[in-house]
Parts: sequence; structure tokens; C-alpha cells
Amino acid sequence: MIRLIFATNNAHKVEEIQQTIGTKITVISLKDAGIDIDIPEPHDTLEANATEKSRTIWGLTRVNCFSEDTGLEVEALQGEPGVKSARYADGDQAFDNNIDKLLHKLGNNPNRRARFRTVISLIWEGQEYQFEGICEGTIIPERKGSGGFGYDPVFVPAGSNLTFGEMSLEEKGRMSHRRKAADKLVSFLQEMVLHT
Ligand code: IMP
Repeated sequence: MIRLIFATNNAHKVEEIQQTIGTKITVISLKDAGIDIDIPEPHDTLEANATEKSRTIWGLTRVNCFSEDTGLEVEALQGEPGVKSARYADGDQAFDNNIDKLLHKLGNNPNRRARFRTVISLIWEGQEYQFEGICEGTIIPERKGSGGFGYDPVFVPAGSNLTFGEMSLEEKGRMSHRRKAADKLVSFLQEMVLHT
């Protein structure tokens, strides 16, 4: 059985990717791997932060592993909040404050184009591989829907009339940035496993 550590403690994310990968590879969370550390995200790109996380886990375990980092990139704000998406504004209800700051900075700007971008960094037998997933869309001026998390209530993916916050998990999952990056990871792993 091939084991693969996912550098996250989000059980939902682990379950989601395990379903896509199938049964030949077992995906385990940091907790299940017995790793209790807070990995820093000190860099100014998603790529560098993802690499930092996967290299840290590889260094500790020498077990094949991967990490992911995601950001919302708004065209009129020169790619902000980007790598700072999780901590764009300070405060107790961070998601809410982050949205407030984003809407305030965008103001009445007619250019509402934005995209979510996920970068996955995989360390497979000591070699690093990266996979990117992008979901293009627009930022609307007021929140709609209460599903999802983060910036979901103000993000309308291209080709839809609904925000991510108005969609079911399945609907969002079909078109999400994370799903697209994960699909590339899974194709790669399937190739690797086929050839071992
Ligand atoms: P993470 O890399 O998945 O932890 O994402 C970093 C931050 O980006 C989160 O704290 C959210 O603010 C935002 N984010 C990531 N993915 C999504 C998403 O699918 N919808 C809305 N916001 C997201």
C-alpha cells in the first residue's frame, strides 16, 4: 500500500482527495501521520509557500507528501489579496472582515475580474512537482448565499449566475480551483503508480 501525506489537518480536504485518488494510494493527514506542527507560510507566492510545507513534511518523514496553497487574485487590485487571502484583514471574524476589506478596496471599480488559484506541491520520491488549478470569475458588490467559506459569498465563477456561497458543495466542487489542481495531481499519481 502506498502512503501519501497531505500537509493539512482539514479532514474534509483529505476525504475529498482520497475519493478522487481511489484505493491504490492511502492519503493521510498530518494528525494521522503523528505530526503536530504549525508550518509557516512566510513567502510572497503561493508556489513558495506550498513548497515550504511539502519540503518540511518530506524532511521530517521521508514519506511521499503534498501540500496546497490557495489565493484569490483580483485583477483591479494587482492580484491582491493573493497569497495573503487568509489574513487580508485582521479581526475575530476573519472571513467577514476579509470580504469587507476587499469590497471597500474595489469600491465602484467596473473591473470586477478575479480568479481563485490553487497550487499543489507534491514531493514524490524526493522530487518536487507542482500542479495549478484556476477558477476565473467576478466579484459582486454584495454578499449572496451562506454556503462555503472565505470569499465564496462574493465570487461568481465564469459561466454561472450563482456565487460559490449559493452553490451546494458538489456544484462548487465540480468547477473549483482546488478540484482542477487535484485532478492534475491524481492523473500524475495514477501514472506513477501504473509504472511501479
Ligand atoms: P487555503 O490555502 O485553502 O488555506 O486558503 C487560503 C484562504 O483563501 C482561505 O482562508 C480563504 O480566505 C481563501 N480561499 C481558499 N479557497 C477558497 C474557496 O474555495 N472559496 C473561498 N475562499 C477561499
